[in-house]
Amino acid sequence: GHQNAEAMPRAPVVTVMGHVDHGKTSLLDYIRRAKVAAGEAGGITQHIGAYHVETPRGMISFLDTPGHEAFTAMRARGAQATDIVILVCAADDGVMPQTKEAIKHAKAAGVPMVVALTKIDKPGINLEKVRSELIAEEVVPEEFGGDTPFVGVSAKTGEGVDSLLEHVLLQAEVLELKAPVDAMAKGLVIEARLDKGRGAVATVLVQSGTLKTGDVILVGQTSGRVRAMLDENGKPIKAAGPSIPVEIQGLSEVPQAGDDFMVLTDERRAREIATYRAGKFRNTKLAKQQA
Ligand code: GTP
Ligand code: NA
Ligand code: MG
Repeated sequence: GHQNAEAMPRAPVVTVMGHVDHGKTSLLDYIRRAKVAAGEAGGITQHIGAYHVETPRGMISFLDTPGHEAFTAMRARGAQATDIVILVCAADDGVMPQTKEAIKHAKAAGVPMVVALTKIDKPGINLEKVRSELIAEEVVPEEFGGDTPFVGVSAKTGEGVDSLLEHVLLQAEVLELKAPVDAMAKGLVIEARLDKGRGAVATVLVQSGTLKTGDVILVGQTSGRVRAMLDENGKPIKAAGPSIPVEIQGLSEVPQAGDDFMVLTDERRAREIATYRAGKFRNTKLAKQQA
């Protein structure tokens, strides 16, 4: 049918980045009233978690990234998929290698940062010292003439968390984020894996339009029909609009994290393009056109 592609305000996509164990997942747990960090093997995040949260002042979608040095690619991907970076830096530890790397990714992606100085409930912390370490990395707080809000927070007591969210939403307002809602969905694969029972599953971020169950979808070098969608709590949903992360099943193969996706009307066409992209294109119509 006819599509109304008028852009509507959408929620900001916020990626939480920083050094290993600086409190990224704990901060998100506090915001979501969840307990993800406690259940992680060895207390280390090993994938990108995607959540959306309703705050009194509006919805925010969050991507959690691992701080372990082995996960550089995930941090780079997180920075690409995002509108705003929350740079987490533990007040008792200061700027560390993956703090610097996260700053580099955010700057390379041209994404504004909000600094969360975490663990401020701990005794004997020196916020001045951490602040000057960040300034040395050219992350300059507003009170020093820079454009980056710094907010002290504790995931233990909740101190500062409301203020942090307020700064995030203020940044989002400045960005005037919009996307069409009533259109065929487009977006990005956050992560993907092969599930024993459900086959290829992918967590995707819808960036524009609305993704619905039954949609024909082209994802990188694979395609399929969205058989089922789950929200971040594993609850089945029928539709996901802009800025909403969802887990989908129904793809014929596991796509790559970072792949683009788009909804098409013709399933055979989607399959052909996927096959063409995969380089297995000898017998496709597209290849004949190209020959
Ligand atoms: P990775 O994802 O593995 O990089 O770690 P992370 O940044 O997600 O840190 P995580 O939330 O796993 O927290 C690391 C440790 O710091 C845990 O033992 C938390 O309980 C502790 N922690 C996190 N935030 C706070 C805080 O605000 N105050 C205190 N006292 N401890 C905290
Ligand atoms: Na951790
Ligand atoms: Mg974590």
